[in-house]
Amino acid sequence: MSDVEHTADAWTRGGEASNSAARPVVRSSTGVVERTELPFPLYRGGKVREVYDLGRRLLIVASDRISAFDVVLPQPIPRKGEVLTQLTAWWLSQLEDLVDHHLVAVDPDRIVTLEPRLRVSREVWTRRAMLVQRTEPIPIECVVRGYISGSAWREYRERGTLAGEPLPPGLIESQRLEPAIFSPATKAVDGHDENIAFVDVARRVGAELAERLRTVSLALYERGAGIAQTRGIVVADTKFEFGQTRDGRLLLIDEVLTPDSSRFWPADLYEPGRAQPSFDKQPVRDYLDGLRDWDKRPPSPPLPPEVVAATSSRYLEIFRRLTGTPLDDFRAPEAGGAA
Ligand SMILES: Nc1ncnc2c1ncn2[C@@H]1O[C@H](COP(=O)(O)OP(=O)(O)OP(=O)(O)O)[C@@H](O)[C@H]1O
Ligand SMILES: [Mg+2]
Repeated sequence: MSDVEHTADAWTRGGEASNSAARPVVRSSTGVVERTELPFPLYRGGKVREVYDLGRRLLIVASDRISAFDVVLPQPIPRKGEVLTQLTAWWLSQLEDLVDHHLVAVDPDRIVTLEPRLRVSREVWTRRAMLVQRTEPIPIECVVRGYISGSAWREYRERGTLAGEPLPPGLIESQRLEPAIFSPATKAVDGHDENIAFVDVARRVGAELAERLRTVSLALYERGAGIAQTRGIVVADTKFEFGQTRDGRLLLIDEVLTPDSSRFWPADLYEPGRAQPSFDKQPVRDYLDGLRDWDKRPPSPPLPPEVVAATSSRYLEIFRRLTGTPLDDFRAPEAGGAA
């Protein structure tokens, strides 16, 4: 159990009433956080994030956990949660003319002003949390693929299709798809994503909303991938999520164009015809692939410190390349989306 977990436990037990003199010492904002346990109902706990239910708002806290081959690894990656959160905030500022979004605040001062009950746990979530407007999520993973890889490559190789639609013959692995393709998925019962055809999206959410999801997702991808390309990062594919407000507005929700929701490739190493190295997870994959006796089922073996350090550097490098600012110097612009 990490220090922060102890701390969070103390808050969970003491709640708001714990007096500040008795407050346990926590690591700084750059400390490693494996898991948070804030004294609020858990709206959702995923592989990497805890989402707390604050009523009409949610607090999305990105931990430093990392998963590879769909397994959460035993060591957290320093700075990873902070990168995911700050990067999402930065991307939203680049994209907010295309669609409204859920971000209310990411600046810790602003978060505690809006939600004073978060003040006492501030050290745990600072820089890794987003305060967002709660929506009714649309149960479609809006995947956009600009390159053919992963499950899309497998589908194409087996059936010549992507998301059920035929693609031209003769494509090679990792080839660019022009234009990019909307390739939606749903979460199957086992938690894995299952690719579905566009007609199935229309059947589930109605033709009009399905069309809107496709148009907006493609526009977001085009803008994001274009920006990333000029900074040496190929966004091979990415997943957007959307939700609806009570008054029927469509909002972009969840994390946006992060390494966890996207495939990032280093542009200078891109070479179609083979699988590409992952910008963020390659050190971890190489290490785990090199182990003879791990069958890729949990629990995963521990990572050596140099693999953890190399991976942390990858996340910081992605952040610096994309935003042009080192993470330590970065302050997200004030959210202009949902109030
Ligand atoms: N503004 C929002 N309103 C409502 N739900 C939201 C909002 N933003 C994000 N969510 C939801 O919060 C959840 C976050 O879950 P998270 O991604 O951490 O885990 P998961 O998707 O269940 O599993 P995995 O770890 O495999 O991603 C998602 O279901 C997402 O749809
Ligand atoms: Mg998720």
